[in-house]
Amino acid sequence: MAQAIVPLTRRRFGETLRRDAWWVQPLIVFVILTSFLVYATWAAFQNAHYTFGPYLSPFYSPEIFGDSPAAWFGPKPGWWPGWLPFSPALIILPFPALFRFTCYYYRGSYYKAFWADPPGCTVGEPRKSYLGERYFPLVLQNIHRYFMVFAVIFLFFLSYDVWEALWWTDPATGAKTFGIGIGTLVLATNVVCLTGYTFGCHSMRHILGGFRDQFSKTPVFSAPYRCSTCLNSAHHRWAWVSLFMVALTDVYVRLCSMGIVHDWRIL
Ligand code: FES
Repeated sequence: MAQAIVPLTRRRFGETLRRDAWWVQPLIVFVILTSFLVYATWAAFQNAHYTFGPYLSPFYSPEIFGDSPAAWFGPKPGWWPGWLPFSPALIILPFPALFRFTCYYYRGSYYKAFWADPPGCTVGEPRKSYLGERYFPLVLQNIHRYFMVFAVIFLFFLSYDVWEALWWTDPATGAKTFGIGIGTLVLATNVVCLTGYTFGCHSMRHILGGFRDQFSKTPVFSAPYRCSTCLNSAHHRWAWVSLFMVALTDVYVRLCSMGIVHDWRIL
């Protein structure tokens, strides 16, 4: 067979033959992820307006220590460092945050958007060497599978919050009555989106497939494996929808708590 030797020319940073607006997608990713990070950090340090009636913001759930009735072990613990402002969110947010940070899909997105590695397919990079994820520090991204386990546990807590959001305390009698508000639906939708995102995780497919590295072998749990595979095919959509929804849920509870939004009771 005839062969043609084509010299590989290294492109300068940003140089490309592409004629489409390849930079739009990384730019949008950069703006959305930056906005989310700024808002989530601000909300986590507020330590206020994270509950309303039976609603609890997902940024603060589960509330292990805190001032609201939802707190498991009461208010701020004595061992909390004096230099660090206290907030229940700071105890739990690292788990979902690191789950997303190490997600295979997000990695592909923010490597392009935040450090241009590469800025786009067939677009010149700023660096000359490629280390991949086999070396420190990016090799730490392999902890993703462990944070997936935490993410599944958090789904139980958030589902319990939806259950709690169905029971309203009568201020006069203290009795609990069944009810559904817009907030209940918002919290429930958030759990659905997070479930779609978590169960479509690549690591989840490995686990449900029965073999961590051998997809060709018979999956141990074939129906859940197929379900996870189906969710995985739209993992990027679940990633963005669930990100948007978790922020929206916090915003909704916060605005209700601040008296800016009135929570309509449907039932
Ligand atoms: Fe995205 Fe696991 S790969 S959540």
